Amino acid sequence: MKDSPEARVQVEHSSSFAPEPIKRNFRGKDVVSLDQFDAASIWDLFLKVHDMATIARNGWSSRILAGKIVTLLFYQPSTRTRVSFEAAVKQLGGEAIVVTDPEKYSSEAKGEVFEDSIRTYEAYCDAIVIRHPETGTALRSAEIATRVPILNAGDGIGEHPTQALLDLYTIWQRTGRLFNLKGLMAGDLLNGRTVHSLIRGLSLFPGNEVYLLSPEELRLSREDLASFQKRGIKLYEIADVSQIPGDCAFWYWTRVQKEKFEGREAEYEKVNNRFVVTQDFLDQYGGASTMLMHPFPRKGEILQEVDTDPRASYFEQIRNGMYIRMALLGLVLGKIK
Ligand code: NCD
Repeated sequence: MKDSPEARVQVEHSSSFAPEPIKRNFRGKDVVSLDQFDAASIWDLFLKVHDMATIARNGWSSRILAGKIVTLLFYQPSTRTRVSFEAAVKQLGGEAIVVTDPEKYSSEAKGEVFEDSIRTYEAYCDAIVIRHPETGTALRSAEIATRVPILNAGDGIGEHPTQALLDLYTIWQRTGRLFNLKGLMAGDLLNGRTVHSLIRGLSLFPGNEVYLLSPEELRLSREDLASFQKRGIKLYEIADVSQIPGDCAFWYWTRVQKEKFEGREAEYEKVNNRFVVTQDFLDQYGGASTMLMHPFPRKGEILQEVDTDPRASYFEQIRNGMYIRMALLGLVLGKIK
């Protein structure tokens, strides 16, 4: 638990703060990285999702988070993550405080330091969900907030753990397993934080292999590649669509992160939408049951003509996002066991 005096002392005197591993006990823990998870903890979470979906679908009034307040602190634009977190809190009878663009609309605009802001939010609520453009901010927030859990909703090019959890759930729902999977990830693998968390997640299960298709400039950083390979997952970098295996269980497409190309528009145009999924492309290179996934937003890398293909799985991902976040909040806040 975060609010024990021991934890506080340890945090204040530590320069190498690390979030606690989940180890099948979510209560009071930060969720900053997929590295905190093991396979058993992921199954524990998934086992709760069905109940959450039932609550949401039937419009049952749940009191699971009654009396709990969750602050959503979004320093970057968001549609799905922000709204699904807010909806998740409300589905479970809790209250959400949404703070968008704090650098413009909170005291940070007057020059308040980040530490003071986080300490203020934690005084008023039971958990903080944060999205920030700087890699490592979720971890930093977890170190600052000694009283409430921090949930990482995307930090820079670092991680996006709740997205990876909903991605894994969607893969499991469709294929019935999370091991011995062959997959493809395409697009901006350098800057795409969802990919960075999903590879970590797939590494927790045996026998997975992922083909990585991107323009040379958008390959995984060499540090990420080496660190992921150490986890035992097989990664194969490819540069041409002809190298896509015909029997992938999933394709995970991503957008090129335009915001990383400020002042380098020509470079962006050169790499943007190098690989576009059209119906013909999916029929030519995809397998009969290859799931087509995307964290969204898409910007032309999957054409809308593909949406009615039974392999398109991105709307399932979107729906599952709320259920996963409901289950996670219930567990972290100690309200479901
Ligand atoms: C992603 C993100 O913010 O990392 N979106 C999301 O949360 N589903 C993907 C992106 O912005 O490209």
